[in-house]
Amino acid sequence: MKRIGVLTSGGDAPGMNAAIRAVTRSAIYEGLEVVGIKRGFEGLLEGDVIPLMSRTVGGIIHRGGTILRTARSERFKRPEGLLEALNRLKELFIDALVLIGGEGTLKGAWTLYEKGFPTVGIPCTIDNDIAGTDITVGFDTAVNTALDAIRKLRDTASSHDRLFIVEVMGREAGFLAADVALASGAEYVLIPEIPFDLDKLCQRLRYARRQGKTHSLIIVAEGVMGAPDLAARLKDTAGYEARVTVLGHIQRGGSPTAADAILASKMGACAVETLLEGKSGVMVCCQNGHMVTRPLPVAWEEEKILSDEVLSLMEMLSI
Ligand code: F6P
Repeated sequence: MKRIGVLTSGGDAPGMNAAIRAVTRSAIYEGLEVVGIKRGFEGLLEGDVIPLMSRTVGGIIHRGGTILRTARSERFKRPEGLLEALNRLKELFIDALVLIGGEGTLKGAWTLYEKGFPTVGIPCTIDNDIAGTDITVGFDTAVNTALDAIRKLRDTASSHDRLFIVEVMGREAGFLAADVALASGAEYVLIPEIPFDLDKLCQRLRYARRQGKTHSLIIVAEGVMGAPDLAARLKDTAGYEARVTVLGHIQRGGSPTAADAILASKMGACAVETLLEGKSGVMVCCQNGHMVTRPLPVAWEEEKILSDEVLSLMEMLSI
């Protein structure tokens, strides 16, 4: 193995740049050449690459987004797209790939590997919905970004005795919503893993009022319903007037936290080390603080369980 490629694909997440930097510099340290593939699988299909040197990845560890840019590619998912990608890799003299992204990216890494091309994945998504790893790159920053916004909303909620509903991202998973709810002291959280129960929510709000709370905060994961819908249902059923905030893509941007920059650095270096050991078809995972590798399909075949502890703590501590 002489030359490796690195790409970012799917939704951007804070820490992607730190991972690109770690892959590049650890590969160069080991005597390898590195090329960056632009716009994920789309750029791979078009042969859109740039050489990555130590200096190319200078001054990016703290930057959000991805210097390689990213895309969601439908073309690559088709059989002819996959063949085209394999031909491109040959033409570009790329011997192995490190792919940074969420489930779609890791699935793409697996399809290349199944065709005999060496790949290693780095789980990087604000959703933290990848089984096999305790945490994904980008999650900690997104929790902190949402928390920062919610703390500002709390000022208004408490000054005006208001009910606020905040919608957070997370696709079909509630990891982001649950952690944000616990950290922000929310009274209630709605996550896709638990069936929606409007009566229970209303009971909780009434209980909070009886306990002397003058304002309340509900966090809703986008996978359950939109915050405006929830506000309408609360108004129709119980007459609650809620203010609504949808945090949206704010949660994907910004500088990575220290935890994310460190995680991305460790995962990037481990990905290169894994390839040098001759292993592929795997992703780098963080388990109990240690970097390990797991087969790529673990990401989508195993179930990642949201711990009850977060939810019960939130319920116990918020009133
Ligand atoms: O997977 C990351 C994520 O931000 C999800 O939380 C969200 O559902 C989705 O991407 C939004 O994707 P897009 O930026 O393509 O609208």
